[in-house]
Amino acid sequence: MAAKWTPDSWRSQKGIQMPFYRDAGALASVEAQLGQFPPLVFAGEARHLKADLAKVVAGEAFLLQGGDCAESFAEFHPNNIRDTFRVLLQMAVVLTFASKLPVVKVGRMAGQFAKPRSADTETVDGVELPSYRGDNVNDIAFTAEGREPDPQRMVQAYNQSAATLNLLRAFSTGGYASLDRVHGWMLDFMGRSPWAAKFEQMADQIGQALDFMRACGLSAETVPQLGGTSFYTSHEALLLPFEQALTRQDSLTGDWYDTSAHMLWIGDRTRFEGSAHVEYLRGIGNPIGLKCGPSLEPDALLRLLDTLNPAREAGRITLITRYGHDKIEAGLPKLVRAVLREGHPVIWSCDPMHGNVVKAANGYKTRPFDRILAEVRGFFAVHRAEGSFGGGIHAEMTGQNVTECTGGAIAITDEGLADRYHTHCDPRLNAAQSLELAFLLAEMLNEELKERRAAA
Ligand code: PEP
Ligand code: CO
Repeated sequence: MAAKWTPDSWRSQKGIQMPFYRDAGALASVEAQLGQFPPLVFAGEARHLKADLAKVVAGEAFLLQGGDCAESFAEFHPNNIRDTFRVLLQMAVVLTFASKLPVVKVGRMAGQFAKPRSADTETVDGVELPSYRGDNVNDIAFTAEGREPDPQRMVQAYNQSAATLNLLRAFSTGGYASLDRVHGWMLDFMGRSPWAAKFEQMADQIGQALDFMRACGLSAETVPQLGGTSFYTSHEALLLPFEQALTRQDSLTGDWYDTSAHMLWIGDRTRFEGSAHVEYLRGIGNPIGLKCGPSLEPDALLRLLDTLNPAREAGRITLITRYGHDKIEAGLPKLVRAVLREGHPVIWSCDPMHGNVVKAANGYKTRPFDRILAEVRGFFAVHRAEGSFGGGIHAEMTGQNVTECTGGAIAITDEGLADRYHTHCDPRLNAAQSLELAFLLAEMLNEELKERRAAA
């Protein structure tokens, strides 16, 4: 690993999962243009998130990270942004109400465009073309022209991210997220789920608590926390020319930040030692996520932690484990033990999505809800046994009524997948499944907290 970091020092390391642009001149001109664009987030906000995440490390808060597998230009619509935001709010309220812990909310939104792929090319009816790598790289349409990486797409992704973030900021602080409106976050089509009734009951109780507090003189006017919330953005820092162009030096501290999102993560395929992605991320001041799949050995993880967080700052690193429902209990303990032994401050977050993909008989890529839940159960079981804090969830979900993951209380069958299968990449939980996950997760979190409090 090069000792001196610069925003472009990743270029001399091994870069995989990034497109080859035929027109180097066009790429350079987009990079220069993006380099002049305003930052999407401010370094101080990334530091606030880090401070919030440090509370999760200490077991005093819980991390909820969720959103699309891949945002797309086609699904860019205010209703989609609003609906995903409100399901995240609902999930956060469920978790807070049950656990009495604050929930740090981080969207996979406003920048989650680039996708790693298992193969460089895709073959359909004997025609082989480059794989789709996300809307900021190429087009999902299976044509030679569509699949050609086009640097101009980065400009469109930047603009869409800016507009999305603007709306999220407006919702967070402009009244939409006010706890007074908790009933209003219910989505019509969720009414059929038994968990919707449970949410309504909880909303009634929150309403009563707010009425009581109002009578005592505490309301959104006097306590700003009741009238709005903090909401952060994140995405996989995969397309490094884009991330580099948004890398800016903070005028207050002189430190470098990736201003394309508050939090960035390194994917399971690009987190190897000496990778361009590890090199890039080690130098930025933002909170960083690291996906940890079954192939990650404890020694390699410890070396990565030393590289990415040499100062051992709490809130800097979130380890997002994604083993699969049948692998987590055997695989995770060795990582937890190594990290505890070395005393690295990390958040342990559970991604129960990426290790649980199956192909339905009719060819759809799906994730059975019971396997997702089983991985979450396994995650908490491991952390309880090891004495670590299972402090986060990382989900691919949407506020839309899609049919992409099977199961859940309104059971989606293999045959039902075809009805509304809209994802540009991996299958997402729909709104009702997300809410259901939050309630079941809240129960498990409470068990964990009970044991921790009893042991303390
Ligand atoms: C993702 O989060 O969309 C992803 C590709 O995950 P992973 O790197 O864990 O496979
Ligand atoms: Co995904």
